This record gives sequence, C-alpha cells and structure tokens, in this order.
Amino acid sequence: MIPQLTNSSVCMRDPQRVQEILEAMLKAGSNTVQVISDFDMTLTRFAYNGKRCPTCHNILDNCKLISNDCKEELKELLNTYYPIEIDSSRSIADKLPLMVEWWTKAHELLVQQKIKKDLLAIVVRDSDARLRDGYQLLFDHLYEHKIPLLIFSAGIGDILEEVIRQAGVFHPNVKVISNYMDFDESGVLRAFKGELIHIYNKREGALLNTDHFQELRTRTNVLLLGDSLGDLTMADGVQDMENILKIGFLNDKVDERKQSYLDSYDIVLVKDETLEVPNAIMRYLTGNK
Ligand code: TMP
Ligand code: MG
Repeated sequence: MIPQLTNSSVCMRDPQRVQEILEAMLKAGSNTVQVISDFDMTLTRFAYNGKRCPTCHNILDNCKLISNDCKEELKELLNTYYPIEIDSSRSIADKLPLMVEWWTKAHELLVQQKIKKDLLAIVVRDSDARLRDGYQLLFDHLYEHKIPLLIFSAGIGDILEEVIRQAGVFHPNVKVISNYMDFDESGVLRAFKGELIHIYNKREGALLNTDHFQELRTRTNVLLLGDSLGDLTMADGVQDMENILKIGFLNDKVDERKQSYLDSYDIVLVKDETLEVPNAIMRYLTGNK
C-alpha cells in the first residue's frame, strides 16, 4: 500500500497488522495523530561514510571544552557501558542499574569541566552531528500539518535543541523531554536539572509529563520512532490511546537483536540511515498532501 514498505531495509513480523493500524489511523484523520520520537540514533544518523556519528553526549565528549583526561575517562565509560546497552543476552532489569551508573558517572565528569553555556552553539556547529536524510521533510511536514512532535531523549536537551535549531527545524510544534543542564549565574554548568532520564526509564519520564499528554488528549493515534527497546515506553503517558505504530531503527548488532526488535516494533528498519519510511507513512496519513 505504501511502496516504501517494500524497501530492502524494512522488516515486519506482521505486515497485515501494520496495514490495519495504518488504515485505522488514516480513517481517524491526521488531526488525531501525534509523533513521539527518540533522538540519538533515531532522528540522528548512526554512521556516515563508514564512521560512527556522535550522540548528544558524544558531541560534548569530543569537544574542545573538555580536558584530555576527562575525554579519556568518558571514552572508557562508553567502551564499558555501550556494549552492555546493546547486549541482547542480558535483560533490561539486569542492565538498568548499570545504565544509571553510566549516566551518573558521565554527568559527574561533565559537571567537573565547567562547561560554558554560551559555547554550546559553537561546539554543536563544529561537531559531526548529523540528522538522518529526510529530516527536513519530516519536521516541515509535521509542522505544516500541525502534528505535534515530541522528542523524548536520554541525551542532553541543550545539545539536542541546538542541533535541530542549527538545522532550521526547531518548529513550534516540537516539544523536547530530555536531560537539561543547569547553569550558575555566570553561565557555567553546575548540575543537570530534574529527574535523570536514561535509556530504560522513559516510562517514568513520560508519567512525569502528564500536562503535555493532557494537552494532546485528542491525539489518540501515535507514531513512535526509536532505536532501543527502552524507547518502546515513550508513549506510556498518552491518554486514551487508540492506535500506535512503532518503528524501530536497528543500527548495530543486527543478527543478535533482529528477533527481539521484530517482536516489539511493528516496523524494523535495518541499517537504514534515512527517514524515507517515516516520511512515506506521514504522507500517507495526511492524504499524500
Ligand atoms: P537517546 O535517548 O536520545 O537515544 O539518548 C541516549 C543515548 O546516549 C544512548 O544510546 C547512549 C548514549 N550515551 C552516550 O553516547 N554517552 C554517554 O555518556 C551516555 C550517558 C549516553
Ligand atoms: Mg536512541
């Protein structure tokens, strides 16, 4: 029905079910739709020209505001904990405390670096951050059709906002839930604000933002985009949900993780660096306009 669903990167456990969800959402109308998306490795690319692209944290880890010693320590954390994040042989319950440990240690190190707020824009500009191909179309299309986009990220809100601002797509329909930096009166990073969001507590993060979901209570049809199994709970705050279509990007350790992704996401995009499929679905849901 949507030609892009026959792309070689697309895998579905139950194509018939996908079709049914899409038809139900089309029937309900695009004024009942909201999009909830993860940021790192979902809206941003996993790799470009064979080289890994940075997450929000990596943008800071690799920047000139961080001392060499600290860079080493952050790299060590990444080398220790990233393999755990993507290890399909361990349960989420087993990984959860280790992920809290990773985020806590990384944030402590960043806070020690006395990072200045007014240099963040330069750091992002000089970084290799890259949104997936087709991002402009996705953000602009959602804005034109007044469809709310919630970016729900365990990354760093200040960095993420700067990436989409510099890309010219931080439209008024975009809301961000993420870890935000807290600066002192001279603009130096002194802590992170509020409850920590890590890769496996997005459900709790969603439930802390009831106001947002209350505002969108007429939008009972959800398109969810993620790249981790932790992203599946991002829509847990949605009220009176009627339909949800979950699209998962499977970027790394494909063979080991494919089955679990097929079991949890309706559409799995394997090593697909583009937003072609989400864009085709959005076009379909807005009557190809
Ligand atoms: P996301 O929720 O926007 O995908 O952000 C979470 C990603 O951030 C997750 O894949 C792990 C990554 N990360 C780093 O790259 N470095 C770090 O220091 C931390 C804490 C997380
Ligand atoms: Mg991610």
